[in-house]
Amino acid sequence: MIGIKIERAEKGDAEQLASISKRAFDSDAEVGGNGPGGPPGYDSPSFQLRFMRFMDYYKILLNENIVGGIFVSSGGKKHRVLERIFIDPPHHNKGIASQAMELLWEMYPQVQLWTLGTPEWNVRTRHFYEKLGFIQVGWEKGGPNWRGIWYQKVMDSSSPYEMVKVGELKDGMKDITVEGIILTISSPKKVISRSTGKNLSVVNAELGDTTGKIVLVLWNEQISQVKVDDRVRIESGYVNSYRGVYQLNIGWMGRLITLL
Ligand SMILES: CC(C)(COP(=O)(O)OP(=O)(O)OC[C@H]1O[C@@H](n2cnc3c(N)ncnc32)[C@H](O)[C@@H]1OP(=O)(O)O)[C@@H](O)C(=O)NCCC(=O)NCCS
Repeated sequence: MIGIKIERAEKGDAEQLASISKRAFDSDAEVGGNGPGGPPGYDSPSFQLRFMRFMDYYKILLNENIVGGIFVSSGGKKHRVLERIFIDPPHHNKGIASQAMELLWEMYPQVQLWTLGTPEWNVRTRHFYEKLGFIQVGWEKGGPNWRGIWYQKVMDSSSPYEMVKVGELKDGMKDITVEGIILTISSPKKVISRSTGKNLSVVNAELGDTTGKIVLVLWNEQISQVKVDDRVRIESGYVNSYRGVYQLNIGWMGRLITLL
């Protein structure tokens, strides 16, 4: 077995991580992708710096050389989202990413739930994550022609991850993972963004479970992703109060998942 280490990435690593990420994701063209490309900022050093600021970003080292990167975001005290993992193509299929995941899990012993998304077409990542014990729980829809498989892994099945219930949601809560059924969806309203001046569409849906219901705010492309009676999960959402009514927001770090 190859001996690797994972260490917190630093500012000075951004350039190298961006070029490794570019080579890694461009190689997806060989496993179902339609040409070179990758997720937002995958080839950009400044995006790597941004990810380092907002998430836990690690470099993967083999003999003290960086061969890959991995970063995770928080979905609450006991939940983390694997945002990205990439390995330089010359080092693929040597078990490095599998070992990096094991090291990551050791670093977060309190975390019971790990989730992540991967494009439906990516046969390589699907094999990789399923081999590590991830199972599909839903879909992340990214527009009319794209959807991602949403995976989860529960680390210790003897103490299953307890999700917050809709009836327990309170103003000010953040990093929330909650599931429910879409009960109603209002007609879209047009608003103009105060910060960018852009036209936006917004709807208020109602999300309910056996303990209660709450307004779920959906913006732009999120609106067409759900319909009444869908079972959905919001990951990394937050609650605020608008005109005296609690509402659940998805936010830029959050996810809207249609459950199977
Ligand atoms: C996904 C990735 C991180 C895996 O890294 P790695 O170090 O090669 O991973 P491992 O060696 O631990 O495991 C790779 C597994 O994928 C399998 N695999 C490789 N190519 C495959 C393909 N075309 N179809 C199916 N499985 C494939 C390997 O056989 C191996 O499984 P095995 O152990 O059962 O044989 C790497 O391929 C990568 O950087 N890809 C580009 C970036 C990406 O897609 N990242 C994930 C999304 S964020």
